[in-house]
Amino acid sequence: MVPSLDVESSIQRYSNSKDSNRDNHVTTSPYLSPLFTSAADLQLRFLCPSDIDQVKDLCKEWFPIQYPEAWYKDITSDPRFYSLAAVYQSKLVGLLIAEVKQSDAINKEDKGILDGRMYSNCTVGYILSLGVCSRFRRQGVASLLLDSFLNHVTQSENQTCKAIYLHVLTMNSAAIRFYEKHYFRLHSFLPYYYSVDGKCKDGFTYVLYINGGHPPWGLLYPFLEKVLKYRFIH
Ligand SMILES: CC(C)(COP(=O)(O)OP(=O)(O)OC[C@H]1O[C@@H](n2cnc3c(N)ncnc32)[C@H](O)[C@@H]1OP(=O)(O)O)[C@@H](O)C(=O)NCCC(=O)NCCS
Repeated sequence: MVPSLDVESSIQRYSNSKDSNRDNHVTTSPYLSPLFTSAADLQLRFLCPSDIDQVKDLCKEWFPIQYPEAWYKDITSDPRFYSLAAVYQSKLVGLLIAEVKQSDAINKEDKGILDGRMYSNCTVGYILSLGVCSRFRRQGVASLLLDSFLNHVTQSENQTCKAIYLHVLTMNSAAIRFYEKHYFRLHSFLPYYYSVDGKCKDGFTYVLYINGGHPPWGLLYPFLEKVLKYRFIH
């Protein structure tokens, strides 16, 4: 049986945890199942270097791509990453790894998410990874992690952050549904973007505009999204 998770107490504990500057980024998620309201313990906290082995195991289990050793070190120790864990009974059961970067650091293939002239001094959030252990899925854990990051990037001091984006395999329908439920929109198709078991696989870029940010294509944008969806998502 999947244990129920207590978000209220997790937020309380999280608020008392290591980095007080980041405390108020966590809120209750409107998506959480009522199952989570009983006395139990889901905690949210930022990753630390001692989490590295658990994080490696989870990423190997969840993602078909391999991350370099240095990446694990960075996300568990470099404060530039927003590396948030959902913890149940001292075990990591969910992870969200994100960063906020200058818009001119957006990779070439994703430059089109913002108008470069209009948003030259802006920042963007990039979600590098999001995953939840299979027995805890469909209970709102990923939504809680995502809400925490959204809360962070929409705080008054982060109003320069105009969009959050991510990449997803075109065949990952669970993740696509998850992001669409959270109002991310399909932005572009990235042929052969991933290498999975030595084979090239296609990806999508999904974007959520925040803090008044908007896509560069005006009226054409919803049309392009419809075309991509018709072509690639059934
Ligand atoms: C995608 C993932 C992070 C979602 O985590 P989660 O904790 O189950 O998500 P939540 O419970 O917060 O949200 C669930 C919502 O997402 C969507 N969703 C999630 N899994 C789904 C699935 N298998 N089929 C259809 N919709 C799904 C639904 O809209 C669902 O809402 P519902 O339960 O009311 O129908 C999880 O499935 C996962 O870890 N997958 C493997 C790793 C991965 O692919 N990560 C994304 C990389 S880009």
